[in-house]
Amino acid sequence: MYIVLEGIDGAGKSTQTDLLNDWLESLGYKTKKMVEPTTSDIGKLIRKELKNPDATGDINQQMLTLLFAADRLTLKEEIMDAKGSKDIILISDRSFYSSICYQNNSSIDSSWIYEVNIHTPRPDLTILLDLDEREAITRCDREEAFENLQFLEKTRNNYLSLKGTEENIEIVDASLSLEMVQENIRKIIKEKLDL
Ligand code: TYD
Repeated sequence: MYIVLEGIDGAGKSTQTDLLNDWLESLGYKTKKMVEPTTSDIGKLIRKELKNPDATGDINQQMLTLLFAADRLTLKEEIMDAKGSKDIILISDRSFYSSICYQNNSSIDSSWIYEVNIHTPRPDLTILLDLDEREAITRCDREEAFENLQFLEKTRNNYLSLKGTEENIEIVDASLSLEMVQENIRKIIKEKLDL
C-alpha cells in the first residue's frame, strides 16, 4: 500500500510520517519511508533551485514541474512494489499532488502537470494535513522561496480543492496537538486497513 502525507510547508508532515511509521511497524507491518524531493541528483538540483528567490516565477515553475516529475520517477519501482503488496506499507512525505498544488502557476495549465506525471503511480490513500498558512509559516525556516505567506495561502487552497476532484483524500486538522493529529491519522488508516 502506498500512503502519502501532504500539506503546505510547516504542516508537520515529517514528524507525523515518523510517528505513523513507528506505529505501523509496532503492528507488525513491513514499512518504508519515502521523501520527495529525493536524494537523487535530480533531487539535489531541485533543492538548489528552491533556494532561488525567483522559484515562484513562471519559467522556474515550469522547469520545476519537469524536474519534480523526473525526480519522482526515480521512486517508481519502489512504489510499484508496495502497491502490489499487502504486507509492505510505503509512507511518503509528498507525492505528485505537491506538484499539482505548488506548481499551480497562472502560466501553467494544470492538465499539463497531470500529463507530465502520467507515469507516476497514484497513492492508495492521501492524508492532507491542513493548517492555516499563518501558523505554518511560523514553523518554517524561510530558506526556500515557497515559504512565504501569500504563496502558502494559495497552495493551501489548492490542496483543499483537491478533495472535490481526487479520490482517496482525507483531510486532518493539523492545528491540533501532535498527539491528536497522529490519533486522527491512525483512525483513517485503521479504516483503510480494516483494523
Ligand atoms: P519539503 O517537504 O518542505 O522539504 P523540507 O521540509 O526539507 O523543506 O519540500 C521542499 C519544497 O518543495 C516544499 O516547499 C514543497 C516543494 N515541492 C513542490 O513545489 N513540488 C513538488 O512536487 C514537491 C514534491 C515539493
